[in-house]
Amino acid sequence: MSEPSTEKAHAVYKPVTDTPDCYLRPGEDEQTPLDYPPYKSSRLRHPKQPLVFMPQTITEITGPQLGRERVLGELDNDLTRQHPGEPIGQRITLTGRVLDTEGKPLRGTLVEIWQANAAGRYRHRWDRWPAPLDPNFTGAGRAITDDDGRYSFTTIKPGPYPWGNHYNAWRPAHIHFSLLGRAFVQRLVTQMYFPDDPLFPYDPVFNSVRDERARQRMVSRFAMSASEPDWALAFEWDIYLRGPGATPFEEAL
Ligand SMILES: [Fe+2]
Repeated sequence: MSEPSTEKAHAVYKPVTDTPDCYLRPGEDEQTPLDYPPYKSSRLRHPKQPLVFMPQTITEITGPQLGRERVLGELDNDLTRQHPGEPIGQRITLTGRVLDTEGKPLRGTLVEIWQANAAGRYRHRWDRWPAPLDPNFTGAGRAITDDDGRYSFTTIKPGPYPWGNHYNAWRPAHIHFSLLGRAFVQRLVTQMYFPDDPLFPYDPVFNSVRDERARQRMVSRFAMSASEPDWALAFEWDIYLRGPGATPFEEAL
């Protein structure tokens, strides 16, 4: 991953790539650290005390159970049909599989997404930058993986948006993902990106995963073969929970 090419960009944001290896446990640079100085909010939000180990008992693991019939509405995984009209933007399909170590598919996983609209604006009271809201787009959806571990969404490609981390800071287009297993204690959160985004070198959230190959595991792939003529382009993204090819999560397993 190349760094920003302008001196101005260097002055406002420099990825931490020169951290001595002796500070890192094996694989640590493949996950997001809790405290990453270029991402300013992480300085205030990260825990200052050592984590407390909470053993999982039969109660945490077995209940309450998340079942398909309890959480899934007919249009939950189609973000373009949740209002009377169609949203503005490029319609896309987004599919992939949730996989455990060694590619074992995980069925029954609740996959929730939330995202900005095509103009890069969230439907959220704290998002006030001057881009239009879309009355036909909420930006939230959910799906349950099938027996092959597969999820599927139809949505609008989100736009990049500015944020206050540093001068002229813009987030690359991304979709937030939350995965819930069979119990509430089994939750993972991450972000999915789109290929070849020119904002990658400038984004401290993306670069908080310091391993280049691990960063690429957060980037979806364009799938011409899955695109639907006269309807939608397709992107695919598989999520690996564990193992050497694990997807980076905001809180590691
Ligand atoms: Fe976001």
